This record gives sequence, C-alpha cells and structure tokens, in this order.
Amino acid sequence: MLADFGASDLVPLGGAVPGVELLPGRKLARTMASIARLSRSAGNTYDMPPGAENLRREIARRSLTWGGALKADDVLVTIGGTEALSLALRVTCSPGDTVAVESPTYFGLARMLREMRLKALPIPVHSETGMDLDYLRTALRRTRVAACVSNPNFQNPVGFLMPDDRKRELVALLAERDIPLIEDDAYGDLQHEGVRPPCLKAFDKDERVILCGSFSKVLAPGYRVGYVAGGRWHAQIVALKRVTTLGCPTLPTLAIAEFLRNGGYERYLRSVRQAYRQQVERMRLAIAETFPAEIGLSRPRGSFLLWCELPRNVDSIALAHEARAAGISIAPGPLFSPESGFRNYIRLNAGYAWNERIERAIGVLGHLVQRMGRA
Ligand SMILES: Cc1ncc(COP(=O)(O)O)c(C=O)c1O
Repeated sequence: MLADFGASDLVPLGGAVPGVELLPGRKLARTMASIARLSRSAGNTYDMPPGAENLRREIARRSLTWGGALKADDVLVTIGGTEALSLALRVTCSPGDTVAVESPTYFGLARMLREMRLKALPIPVHSETGMDLDYLRTALRRTRVAACVSNPNFQNPVGFLMPDDRKRELVALLAERDIPLIEDDAYGDLQHEGVRPPCLKAFDKDERVILCGSFSKVLAPGYRVGYVAGGRWHAQIVALKRVTTLGCPTLPTLAIAEFLRNGGYERYLRSVRQAYRQQVERMRLAIAETFPAEIGLSRPRGSFLLWCELPRNVDSIALAHEARAAGISIAPGPLFSPESGFRNYIRLNAGYAWNERIERAIGVLGHLVQRMGRA
C-alpha cells in the first residue's frame, strides 16, 4: 500500500504529498546547479553534524515566526523529518519503553515505534483541538511513559490545530512529570489563513521539547532535508547522528538554505497556502456531493489532508483494494493506528491541483462507499 503512494498510474489520493506542480522544483534545481558550479567543494565534502551553518541560521531566523528564539547552534540538520524523529526517539527511549502518541497518528511514527520495539500508548484526539489532555493526564498516572510525541499543527491525518492554551498545557503537563516531548512540525508553515501557528517549543521553559521539522511537505520531499532542535538532549542527538548517518547530502541542503535566504520563501508560502485552502475546499465539496450524507469529514485550517469517517460497516482496507483496482490510491484508517483501529476511516490527499481526473476519482470512491455502506 505504501509503495502505491508513489505509483504514477494511480490517482494519488493516498500519500501525504504536495502536488509537484505547486512546488518550486525548477527554482530549487537551478539554485542547486549554480551552487555546484560555483563551489566545486560543495558536493565533494562531508557536511559534518550539526550540518550546514547557512541552513541552521535560516531555521533559527524563521523560528521567530512560530514564537521561538532558536540559535543556529540549537539546530541539527537531518535527513528529513524521519531521521529527526528517529534520533529523538532513540536518545529518549530504550527498547520496551512506552511512548504516548496521538490516536490516530502519522503511520511512519507507528511503524517506527514497532521497529524500535517501543510500545505505543494511544491518546485519543479531538478533531479540532488535538490530544485529549485529561485522558493523557489519567493515562500518565497508570503508565510509565518514556516520551510523548505530538504533531500539534495540522496533524497528519486528522488535520487539527491545537489551540495555544492547550499547547501550553501539554508542555507543562509533561514538564511536571519530567517526560520528554517530541514535537513533529512537518506541516506548521502551511496554515490556510492568518498567522503561522506557534510550535510547542515556543512554550518550552526548560528545554524538554525536541522539535523535529522538515522541508518535505513545503518545498521538496525528494531533497530529504529536515532538522531537529533537541533541547537538553541536543548533544546526544548530534553524537548519535554522527555514528548513524554521519552527514546530510550537501547540495540539497545548501539549495534549500539559499531558497530560504534569498528565494522568496515567504511569497511562495503565501501562494501555496492559498492553493491548499482552495484544493481542500474543492475536495470537501466533491466528497459532500458523492459520499453518503452520514460521513464525517475534517475541516483542516492548514495543510492538504482530509480525514473522513465512513459509515460504520465500510471496511476501509477492502475499500482501498477496490479503489486500487479502479486506479486510485487512498490511505485506509488502520495505517494510522498502532492497534489497527479506525477501520471505517480514510485519509485523502488534496495536495494536487484540482483536475478532472481527481474529480472523477472522488466520484468513483463515493460510489464504492455508497455500495459498501448498503451491503
Ligand atoms: C507528520 C509527519 N511527520 C514526518 C514526516 C516525514 O517527513 P520527511 O519526508 O521529512 O521524512 C511525514 C511525512 O509524511 C509526516 O506526515
């Protein structure tokens, strides 16, 4: 199913990927080529941890947009957000430990926990406000937890935006219990309107939040550029990166640094945010027209993912197989659950510019859901 997310012969509603036509691919490629031409050494030397200072400086500068005050030295460049999350988990947890996660959660995280022999403690989320903090508080009384992972800004897959007072409460709740909080901010720059939401890290008074970021969803998934600001675990994270992947690919890192410094990143963000708002709205409308009336559908205020609750008797895995046979990839709910829950949910990607192919695919899905719902 995961392999299908990248298959070009399927209508791409499964993967959480931005539409290629919206990304500044040409500009980034030109920037990378010119860096390679001007500096022979750029591609021919290791970019040793903590990684290119140019990029770390830009990340630190941009932290002002989310209420942070990072310095370049607080940041380690990583191979995507995936490496950032993996390093953060490995320095805070040991095999057998329990990690509190949102339920549903990003499937990459659910799989990572399994591979690292970590137990997931699923914490239910509210569709608008995120992790249920009362539930978390009670769960922490009963279970020893080594770390907590949260994706507070436009969460994958539900799309919620945790309000500021809840962010503050979550940070304080974990700080009181001395539990590291790993923040995944892969989508934070993609609000549809208004100001960029703060990160949990903005409420962190004593360096207990490990911020993991990524340029995959905003600029270029294939460049594999992410970062981590590891707070009190930063030195350990840098040391672990040194012995696992050593450095990051230099040219993509420098190209992204240059785009942030001088490529009109803010202007680009303004246009892409508007495009995602329109695409998400367009897909919501099409779903409302063709799916059964009783479905539940998220109304995200950022990013490009929709989370859809289908009638109870619709099995989303069976639906994904039928959709695939009809040339459409979708992400069934159980992928997002360490316990294979959310059987009647699907996640749809509205990252691509709206076109007839996508419109037809939503119609086909609606028809399949109607039929399976009646069975
Ligand atoms: C919530 C979340 N975190 C992290 C990642 C991984 O991002 P990257 O491509 O930077 O490794 C993804 C990718 O889908 C994601 O959705």
